[in-house]
Amino acid sequence: MTEILEQDKRIEKNLEIIRNRIFVFSGKGGVGKSTVAVNLAYSLLKAKLKVGLLDADITGPNIPQMVGLSGMPEMMDQHQILPQIKEDLRVISIAPLIPKDQPVIWRGPLRSGTISQFLADVVWNELDVLVTDLPPGTGDEVLTVSQKMRPQLAIVVTTPQEVSLLDCRRAVNMAKKLSIPKIAVVENMSGLICPKCGEEIDFFGKGGGEKMAEEMGVAFLGRIPMEKIGRECGDAGTPVVLKYPESKTARAFAGIAQNVIELL
Ligand SMILES: Nc1ncnc2c1ncn2[C@@H]1O[C@H](COP(=O)(O)OP(=O)(O)OP(=O)(O)O)[C@@H](O)[C@H]1O
Ligand SMILES: [Mg+2]
Repeated sequence: MTEILEQDKRIEKNLEIIRNRIFVFSGKGGVGKSTVAVNLAYSLLKAKLKVGLLDADITGPNIPQMVGLSGMPEMMDQHQILPQIKEDLRVISIAPLIPKDQPVIWRGPLRSGTISQFLADVVWNELDVLVTDLPPGTGDEVLTVSQKMRPQLAIVVTTPQEVSLLDCRRAVNMAKKLSIPKIAVVENMSGLICPKCGEEIDFFGKGGGEKMAEEMGVAFLGRIPMEKIGRECGDAGTPVVLKYPESKTARAFAGIAQNVIELL
């Protein structure tokens, strides 16, 4: 018990030096949370903020792959973990600590415990913004991290199809229940950019996210198109906003980052 109290104290101390805390989550898997978290983090960094990225997806940690990080975070001592740094972004993830290709078969409390340890023991130094990438759905970890971290902004990622919007509504309502002060929606995969002619194809439809945000009384941050280079950059570990800063995707992220800064 005292161990948990001690940990909570260290979390509180850490929160004092993390000015703004952003949650990226969704009701549905595979809609682009990690892609949004990575590219938003770098777009905020480009706006001259000090930014950290926390990979809270314990069973499917993708962030190191997406930002091109390998190696292990350094441990100063039992309660001091140094984040890894890539292009000035401070990153922490469970991925380097587990064997590659092995499933993480951990029950909820163990997963939440690991995230709490990250919140308590990672030495971020001063941060303007900490972006947290969460696992899909509205389960245990989302609840624990929210209670411990008290984010000021929840970003719910959706794609434009009705099945995704349905889950997105659930996620927005969860953010409301968790009393997260600001809630905003991003519509990802909104229109497909043809790699041959550059024309935008209305593949999954578009505009549903904005309409839903309006109906639910939350902010809308912007739409990100589906672009081949977006997926390639994710796989290659070279975030699209760094590699192709003039692309439609990178410009969409710059706009979203600006809206985030205004919201905060
Ligand atoms: N706008 C986009 N354009 C092109 N590819 C995209 C875009 N958004 C996401 N992707 C690709 O779609 C796949 C799923 O994205 P991502 O891993 O970010 O989703 P996720 O919501 O984090 O998934 P999970 O629920 O498994 O955590 C990745 O291969 C990613 O590169
Ligand atoms: Mg993910």
